Amino acid sequence: RPIQPPDLSHCLLISIYPPSSPPLNCCALSLVSSDHQKILNFTFPLPSSPLRIRPAAHLVDSRYISQYSKAVQLMKDLPKSDPRSFFQQANIHCAYCNGAYDQFGFSNLQLLIHRSWLFFPWHRLYLYFHERILAKLIGDDSFALPFWNWDSPDGMRIPSMYLNNFFFNKSSSSSSLYHPNRDPSHQPPVMVDLNFLEVGSDQAVVYPGVDDNLRIMYRQMMENGATTELFLGSAFRAGEQPEPGPGSVEVIPHNTVHYWTGDPRKHYREDMGAFYSAARDPIFYAHHANIDRLWLVWKSLGRKHMDFSDSDWLDSAFLFYDEEARLVRVKVRDCLDIDRLRYRYQAVENPWINSGR
Ligand code: C2O
Repeated sequence: RPIQPPDLSHCLLISIYPPSSPPLNCCALSLVSSDHQKILNFTFPLPSSPLRIRPAAHLVDSRYISQYSKAVQLMKDLPKSDPRSFFQQANIHCAYCNGAYDQFGFSNLQLLIHRSWLFFPWHRLYLYFHERILAKLIGDDSFALPFWNWDSPDGMRIPSMYLNNFFFNKSSSSSSLYHPNRDPSHQPPVMVDLNFLEVGSDQAVVYPGVDDNLRIMYRQMMENGATTELFLGSAFRAGEQPEPGPGSVEVIPHNTVHYWTGDPRKHYREDMGAFYSAARDPIFYAHHANIDRLWLVWKSLGRKHMDFSDSDWLDSAFLFYDEEARLVRVKVRDCLDIDRLRYRYQAVENPWINSGR
């Protein structure tokens, strides 16, 4: 019994804060649910379509940055009623992560894609469609998202393209990649803490070193992620309680980099620190591209490092909007070979590979 796509005509408001505050509407996928909105089955891009090479965010040139920031600006400029708009792209994450949908056929059970074996494939597909929309907006079908290479010493800071006024154009207020709701004390040159846990104000902040981060990477990828279930997360089938258990990398460094980036002046360190708001920060997509890359790296690192073969995983299905604003039904099995999705990652060293003891 694989997880089925949600019923879009039934999307609930969610409550994030205590009852006093108004509930939140992140029903992005219901927006255009006119009665006969057709749902297409996913088809792979043509094998001859250009291969998108996702670059490390700290290694790109200014031409790339201006292209990417232009694409995000165009996405932000789309009307909020457009499911391809940046606003609705962020809502898609919110809806699948905060309980806006029930599991199809189980009105008492939420569809949640974190803390289970859906985590890696759902986010891969989410980025895939997001990237295609950006590419379409700038009319460049080889455009690829950047990845935040925080597991490599030179990438262990917020990449400069995401900073305020990084950009040459002095007349514009700030780059579309900048986002104000981040931790002001975690700006470059401060290094990311892959083991970051919110510290109370009475505790001294301990800054990590490169070697600490590399050891955490080794531990999470190799030791704590030694088997498929330990790495990808626990089985979550239709009719079961959501969030049965996260994989190693989902907890650390995925969650920790979210918290580290988010704003401590906000209740849940929004925006990156909370599911409902995380994808409002453009850096979210680079963070997840690195998570997605690490899934590939993990698979290359050991005989036991294989995807699940369970058809309940392979046939789990979701809905996304594509670059033409068409609703597409896509399965986990469709995302397991990224060559067929026509993207790859720039080859970088994985320096933590030698950080076991
Ligand atoms: Cu869906 Cu990084 O969270």
